[in-house]
Amino acid sequence: MTPRPIIIDTDPGTDDAIAIWLALASPELDVLGITAVAGNVPLALTERNARQLCELAGRSDMKVFAGCARPLLRPLVTAEEFHGENGLGSTDLPQPTMPLQPGHAVDWLVDTLMAAGDGEITLCPLGPLTNIAMALVKEPRILPKVREVVLMGGGFFEGGNITPAAEFNIYCDPHAAYTVFSSGVKLTMMPLDVTHQARTNRDRIAAVRAIGTPVGVAAAAMMTSHGAHEEADRDKDGGPLHDPCVIAYLLEPNLFGGRLCNVQVETGSEVTMGMTVVDWWGVTDGAKNCTVMNRIDADGYFALITERLARL
Ligand code: BDR
Ligand code: CA
Repeated sequence: MTPRPIIIDTDPGTDDAIAIWLALASPELDVLGITAVAGNVPLALTERNARQLCELAGRSDMKVFAGCARPLLRPLVTAEEFHGENGLGSTDLPQPTMPLQPGHAVDWLVDTLMAAGDGEITLCPLGPLTNIAMALVKEPRILPKVREVVLMGGGFFEGGNITPAAEFNIYCDPHAAYTVFSSGVKLTMMPLDVTHQARTNRDRIAAVRAIGTPVGVAAAAMMTSHGAHEEADRDKDGGPLHDPCVIAYLLEPNLFGGRLCNVQVETGSEVTMGMTVVDWWGVTDGAKNCTVMNRIDADGYFALITERLARL
């Protein structure tokens, strides 16, 4: 089987970290490169964190590029209260020795997609959509090269986690999200509706810690820090492990269920800025532009993560 070529666009981020490791551990996927964007923490930290994560996984050969340092129009909103001051929670990973790639992430995205065949590359955004939107605006001819965009972002029945209406990734750069959702690219979305069912708990974290490798120990620490801080007022086991849903879907789509819908991104109202308005019941004739997931086999998801991280 030829591995599926993917590009991970990310703002690590404790849950981004586990998503990156899940991808690097999986022979079904060929990670062409990792593009960093400002989000959970500023760009200087997200690009450094991406390199730290690759190195800990023994993948200092991975290409990591720095992308956009701020959203298209709005000031950067960060999330240190969830991900810690350095973005990787309570973990203190060694400083990376692998270099940052020269050039801008958006230019590399454009060049890589333009050199690819039609429908060849899957994009996996795990943070604000600034880099992806910039690439689409800079070179619209990349559109047919994209097989699919599978992203973590948005929420509908679950509401928001940064405002009552909006999920963090979409809220952080709503204009970029608007650009991507209205581009005509094939989209699959992992919203809070699915990730809020993907909660850590003591047993799931213990299984990852028991792997006993540097990656296993660090991943367990990150799952603990995510669980400790995020949406702690919910009467649930632990914190939602959002971003690995994107990679898990590529590996085992049957873990997830959802529906093809029209989705629009709100950019006009401050109260609902960044809301993903999902026409779940088909009450408009808006084009069905996005498969919106709302179901997950959470036990299967954590079993997959544990089994794969043990390979690193
Ligand atoms: C998303 O926001 C970030 O804080 C997480 O890494 C995830 O991508 C969840 O709303
Ligand atoms: Ca993220």
